[in-house]
Amino acid sequence: MDGNGRWAAQRGWTRIKGHKMGVQAVDEVLEEAARVGIRHLSLYAFSTENWKRPAAEVSALMAMLRMYLRAFMPKLMANGIRFHHIGDKEGLPAGVAADIATLEARTAHLDRMTFHLAVNYGSRLEILHAARKCLAEGLAAADLDEAAFQQRLWTGAAPDVDLLIRTSGELRISNFLLWQAAYAEFYVTETLWPDFRAGGLREALEAYAQRERRFGGL
Ligand code: IPE
Ligand code: MG
Repeated sequence: MDGNGRWAAQRGWTRIKGHKMGVQAVDEVLEEAARVGIRHLSLYAFSTENWKRPAAEVSALMAMLRMYLRAFMPKLMANGIRFHHIGDKEGLPAGVAADIATLEARTAHLDRMTFHLAVNYGSRLEILHAARKCLAEGLAAADLDEAAFQQRLWTGAAPDVDLLIRTSGELRISNFLLWQAAYAEFYVTETLWPDFRAGGLREALEAYAQRERRFGGL
């Protein structure tokens, strides 16, 4: 989810207002994804690097996140969507961590779609954590294969990324799902995140449907 700040700047509004509109886009994209039958949707909300932003923006984002986690509970329940946080729980403000835990627990039985929300997420850190977990569990080198490593990532049993959508025209991966996106199809749109919405998702899926995936084969 990128481009909230630019979306607001284009209108002479504060960046915070851009993030608010970004939350509305999440709502719409989530519902559309469930409707078209996507099984896993991952959204990158806040990276391990985003703490470098001005304190006022960080605290506004955290407050908005808490509001979101509470307000969207009925929507997730009504649409059969399981909520799953990916990221480092250690560095999260206590209130955010508590709201995440509540939402995960209340939606744990739902299985139409899983919504992975990346908060305090960084892929390198995730890989390091998985490596530490292997060591802490005393896993023998001979037993460490791709499947064993993958299941220790924060994404756990979730499948690899099929389609990676980047809004606001940026051509970077920005430390997102590096392991999981090894064979992901890339889709870059100039659309800023607050304008992405259901139609944006449909266009991305149409483009994806035209791709021929060979996974290194012929
Ligand atoms: C949203 O967009 C991403 C978040 C970290 C919430 P940005 O805040 O990165 O918006 P731009 O890139 O400044 O337009
Ligand atoms: Mg940005």
